[in-house]
Amino acid sequence: MKKFLSLILAIAIVACQSSENVQDTHERGLVVDKAMVVSAHPLASQVGKEIMQKGGNAVDAAVAVQFALAVVYPGAGNIGGGGFMMTRMADGSTNALDYREKAPAAGSRDMYIGETGEVIPQKSTRGHLAAGVPGSVAGFEAAHKKYGKLPWADLVQPAIDLAANGWKLTASEAGKLNRGKANFEKYNTVRPDFFMKDGDEKWVEGETVKIPEMAKTLTLIRDNGRDGFYKGETAQLIVEEMKRGGGIISLEDLKNYEAAWRTPISGKYRGYDFISMPPPSSGGIALAQLLQSVEPYNLSELGFHSQESIHLIVEAERRVYADRAAHLGDPDFFNVPMNGLLDKEYQSDRMSDFNPNKASSSEAVSAGAPAPAESEETTHLSVVDPMGNAVSVTTTLNGGMGSQVFVGGAGFLLNNEMDDFSVKPGTPNMYGLVGGEANAIQPGKRMLSSMTPSIVSKDGELFMVVGTPGGSTIITSVFQTIINVIDYDMGMQEAVSAPRFHHQWLPNVVMIEQAGIDSTSSLMSNLTAMGHQMISRGGIGRVDAILVLPNGKLEGGADHRGDDSAQGY
Ligand code: GLY
Repeated sequence: MKKFLSLILAIAIVACQSSENVQDTHERGLVVDKAMVVSAHPLASQVGKEIMQKGGNAVDAAVAVQFALAVVYPGAGNIGGGGFMMTRMADGSTNALDYREKAPAAGSRDMYIGETGEVIPQKSTRGHLAAGVPGSVAGFEAAHKKYGKLPWADLVQPAIDLAANGWKLTASEAGKLNRGKANFEKYNTVRPDFFMKDGDEKWVEGETVKIPEMAKTLTLIRDNGRDGFYKGETAQLIVEEMKRGGGIISLEDLKNYEAAWRTPISGKYRGYDFISMPPPSSGGIALAQLLQSVEPYNLSELGFHSQESIHLIVEAERRVYADRAAHLGDPDFFNVPMNGLLDKEYQSDRMSDFNPNKASSSEAVSAGAPAPAESEETTHLSVVDPMGNAVSVTTTLNGGMGSQVFVGGAGFLLNNEMDDFSVKPGTPNMYGLVGGEANAIQPGKRMLSSMTPSIVSKDGELFMVVGTPGGSTIITSVFQTIINVIDYDMGMQEAVSAPRFHHQWLPNVVMIEQAGIDSTSSLMSNLTAMGHQMISRGGIGRVDAILVLPNGKLEGGADHRGDDSAQGY
C-alpha cells in the first residue's frame, strides 16, 4: 500500500511539474473555474453572476443582466428596444431568438421623406417617430419560458432594486447624462427629472441615481410578464407618449408584438464551428461570408495587422458589405438569398478579382448576384453557466439613448431603430450604411440589423462566446476578434483589447483605431499607397467575450474601451 501511495505521489509531482513547465504566454483577463458573465456594466455582470450562484442557468442570467442593463446602462441596455439571443446548450443544441423591433402598422415606405423627395433630417433618428415597436420584454419572456430555471420574478427583481434604491454612476455614465441633457430637453414631452440636473449643475462619478418610474414599470413586468409591458398601464403610457409627441405606435402594435425563434446561421472555419444570428440581422451571414473569404489565405503567416493582412481583410469586408446593402432584409417580408450568399463558390468568385497589391474601388465592387433563394451604441453580453450552457446576446436602442424619448411616467427610453431601415434607397443611414428594397419600410417589418451575437465550438465542445455593439462595425469587430484567437493565437482579453479597423463598402474608407495604429506610421502610408483611404478614429466596438481554455477554465475578455466587466466563479 505504502509503495502504491509513493507511486501516486511521484506521478502527481511529475504531472504538476509538467503543467508548470507549460508556460501560458498570454496576458489573460479574468480566469474562473465554472461560470462567467461579461457585460457593459459591473453591476449588471454582478447580477448575472448572482443569478447563477442561486442556481439559475445562462439564459436566466442573460435575462436578468438585460433587465439590469436597462437601468444602470440606459444608453443601450433597454426594455424599449430590441435584440437577439443565441443559445448553445450543454447538449450542443443551438437556437436563435429574434426580438428585434418592428415598424408600427401605421409606418410606411416614405414616412421620412419630405415633399422635395429628400430624407427629412433626424426624423428617423430623433423623437417619437423614430421608434419601432419594442421587442425586448417579449424576447426575455420567450427565452425564459423555453429555457429558464429560476422563477421569472427572480430575474426582474435585481433591476427593480437598482431602479428603486439607486446605483452609483461611473465617470463615463455621468458624462453621457451630461451630454444628453440638451436632447432630453428637446425631445421629451415630460421632463425626465431623474436624469436631468438643473441649470449648469453636472452629474459626477459616484453620484446615486434612482428611477422610481422605472421601478414601477419593472414591477408590472415582474408581476404580469410581457403583459406588464405590452398591455395595461405601461402600454397606455407608451401610446399617450406617442400622442403627445407625434409618434405612431398603437395599443394594437404593442399587443401584437411577438418574438420569433429562428434557425441560426452556422458554418465552419479552420475546423471550428460557429453559429450566429440569421436575418433580420445581417450579422450571421456577413460573418460567415467574411470567414469564408479569408479562409484560403494563411492569415497567421501574413501576420497580425501587417499591410498584407489588413489589405486582404478590407477587400473581403468591402465585398461583403456591398452584398449586405442589396440582399438582406427581414426574411418574413423579403426573400433573402441565404443559400446563395453562404455558398463557398460564390465567395470564392467574389474574391476572384482581389489584387494583393492594390485596393479595389467601391464603385467598381457593386453587390454580387448570389443564387436566388446602430453614436454606435447597442450592448453585448456573453454568459457561460456551470452546466456548460452558453448565451450570446446583443441588444440595442440603436443610437446612444435611442430616440432620446422617455415614456412619460414609465421611466424608460424608446429606441430609434426605424433608422436601421433603408429610409430612402441609396441614402446612407446614421452609420453610413446604404440599402435598397430588401430593407424598405413596411408595416410590421423588422429593420435590418448588424448585430452579430455568436458562439464558436470545436469538436463538439464550447470554445468561445462573442459579440459587440458598434452599429455597422459590429460584424467586422466580431470577425476580427474570432480570427485574433484562431489565426493569431491570442487569448480572449488580448483578442478583445487588440486594435481594430473597419471597412463597409460605402463610404470607401478604412477606419482604423487611432489608439492602436499610429496614423503617421509606414503601415498607414503603405496602405494609402495601395489605394486605401485611411481614416483614424476613436474606439471601434466594445467586445465582451468568453473563451474556454484548454484546461476547461473560462477566460473573460471585457473591453477596456468601456466600463465593461467580467465576473464569475
Ligand atoms: N442598431 C444597430 C443594429 O441593429 O445593427
